[in-house]
Amino acid sequence: MPLMLHGDNTSLVLAHGDGPPAVVYWGHSLPDDNPADVASALSRPTAHGTIDVEAPVALVPELGSGFFGSPGIKGVRADGSAWAPRFKQSKPPEVGDDHVRFFCDDGVAGLDLEIELWLEGGRDVVAMRQVLTNTADTNYSLGRLSLSLPLPSRANEILDFTGRWCDEFHPRRQLWEAGAVINENRRGRSSHDHVAALFAGTGGFDEQQGEVWGFHLGWSGNSRLVAERLADGRRYLQAGELLFSGEVSLNPGESIISPWLYGAYSPSGLGMISRAFHHYLRSRDGHPGPGNPRPVILNTWEAVYFDHNLETLKSLADRAAEVGVERFVLDDGWFQNRNDDTAGLGDWWVDTTKHPDGLGPLVDHVTGLGLEFGLWFEPEMVNPDSDLYRAHPEWVLADPNYEQPLGRNQLVLDLANPDAYDYILNHIDTLLNELDISYIKWDMNRDHVQATHAGRAGTRVQTLALYELLAELGRRHPKLEIESCSSGGGRVDFEILRYTKRIWTSDCNDALERQRIQRGFSMLFPPELMGAHVGPHVSHTTRRTHDLGFRGAVAFLGHLGIEWNLLDATDAERAQVKELVGLHKRFRPLLHGGDVVRLDSQDEATMTQGVVSFDKTEALFAYARINTARSSVPDPVHFAELDPDRRYRTQILALPGRSGEFGRTRPQWMDDGSVELSGRALMSVGLQPPVLDPESALLFHIVAIDGK
Ligand code: DGJ
Repeated sequence: MPLMLHGDNTSLVLAHGDGPPAVVYWGHSLPDDNPADVASALSRPTAHGTIDVEAPVALVPELGSGFFGSPGIKGVRADGSAWAPRFKQSKPPEVGDDHVRFFCDDGVAGLDLEIELWLEGGRDVVAMRQVLTNTADTNYSLGRLSLSLPLPSRANEILDFTGRWCDEFHPRRQLWEAGAVINENRRGRSSHDHVAALFAGTGGFDEQQGEVWGFHLGWSGNSRLVAERLADGRRYLQAGELLFSGEVSLNPGESIISPWLYGAYSPSGLGMISRAFHHYLRSRDGHPGPGNPRPVILNTWEAVYFDHNLETLKSLADRAAEVGVERFVLDDGWFQNRNDDTAGLGDWWVDTTKHPDGLGPLVDHVTGLGLEFGLWFEPEMVNPDSDLYRAHPEWVLADPNYEQPLGRNQLVLDLANPDAYDYILNHIDTLLNELDISYIKWDMNRDHVQATHAGRAGTRVQTLALYELLAELGRRHPKLEIESCSSGGGRVDFEILRYTKRIWTSDCNDALERQRIQRGFSMLFPPELMGAHVGPHVSHTTRRTHDLGFRGAVAFLGHLGIEWNLLDATDAERAQVKELVGLHKRFRPLLHGGDVVRLDSQDEATMTQGVVSFDKTEALFAYARINTARSSVPDPVHFAELDPDRRYRTQILALPGRSGEFGRTRPQWMDDGSVELSGRALMSVGLQPPVLDPESALLFHIVAIDGK
């Protein structure tokens, strides 16, 4: 008998006959229907020229049953057997209000399979994973363990992301024709270029319109996503860890647990999927909620790079405190021999030439100012020019029979080696015990290449060891917060967020580039997790120059930080930064707790996104002109997700440091100072923005005034 799970706005029908379970429907809520009728309505006829019994797009589709797409499981025993398993249900599913667990086995292949699905967050995110157990008495070499969901034919457009260092979350839109779209990541981190996420939707879907199905694999190592349209017309999405040859060999009795695959459905555009994912993350234990406001950060990287000097750092902390910063993060450069990126990684003790009395005096100074102290580490890495490497070259995640290439002059440490793991854990732990360090910026700056642990492919065990290391530090230091950084946004996924509370979105602090990067980031992650810093006037990665108004408006919507040498700033600039920080703190509950709303625009020269409070009483939207426009006067902005039946007053929230507008006159409502309109009017009539210079932005502040 098929069964049905109901989210708040969605329903999911699962068929489970003899074989492995399959999702047969996932979409609009069906409160009045019977799952058997839904399954019957969708049962498929058999065409000529094919196998008599069509193999379903099961959660784990089977080559052994005649599924000619990508099989959910790939594996084999040394004698060649068990290469095309076929599962049967071994006992009835365990069905709860918000979850179901299926139990299957294949007695011939000697494999057990358990699959669980949960409705999460606002119950509109489906989280799925599986456990495969080897029940035979020989090893089972596993090459794939992925989950699959069918999608309707009308989902014929795909949005996913490409990217690179400093250009994360670059959207890629394509028609989903016959054949497969494959996204494989082999970098050993979730990567800049192959984020494990995909959105499929009805033709032309956008932020507010069209049906959309969204997916994300919560895994920080290698991944593989496939979206395929089969010759018989069916479409499906499959996602799982990418395993190299020999990477997983299950001993008799041994199990492997897959990463979680997350999915969300929206009947009305991409925005609703993002909000479902955000609600889910916000519902998880440890997520920084309203009781834990995100401290405004000063990060020293773009301020001083490797040039650490105690007096300079203290003065920087003084300036930071004056402008309202709440957390001072000492970035790369503080440990032994770390004067550039050629040496030192692995030697996690303080460089006494820079800090003769250790870090204590700086930590005391910072905490004495009332700021938290954070410290940068790159624990998974080692420079060949380090005491650690000289003592333990065998701790590298590499095959000793080959030369291992360097990346940023560094090698990866094999954390699945217990000695290397203990060394790293103990060195970090010692510093955390000795000093009042409440925050770690955890960096990871190179890809895995031929990553070998104990003679076989090692990215999976490395990823698991990383999670364990982060978890152990969390157990030993329950108040510690950790930021996930990987050359900017090279490690961003729902699993690393079980251990970390912030993501360094990109090494690119150029406010123009950040517009698009942050918009892409927000498809999956809420703003309170998005590290967004005001850099210097001249961006260090693009050399573009932007005024503080634009830099501030862009960083304002995330977890705000400053990454600029405030000692070089003028008094007037510091006063402006102080004002910006004060405004951010005032709006922080809205910015970090509201619903993210990205607006569509026909005008490619503008980008607008913002947040609307849960009760729809207040909203902030950042409107940015990112380019010169074809038309001399911009289009009105049509807001979204407001309450149509309420009245709102809209004003410009003046941010400090904004340079002048370009037009000769302003819209009437701006000259009046504000305008009062219904939510319906703000969404359907819209609001005319002024003519703005390219690369400038303003904030619309919308407040309900009807006292409801
Ligand atoms: C890469 C990070 O993304 C930067 O923010 C900075 O921490 C550098 N590493 C330091 O080496």
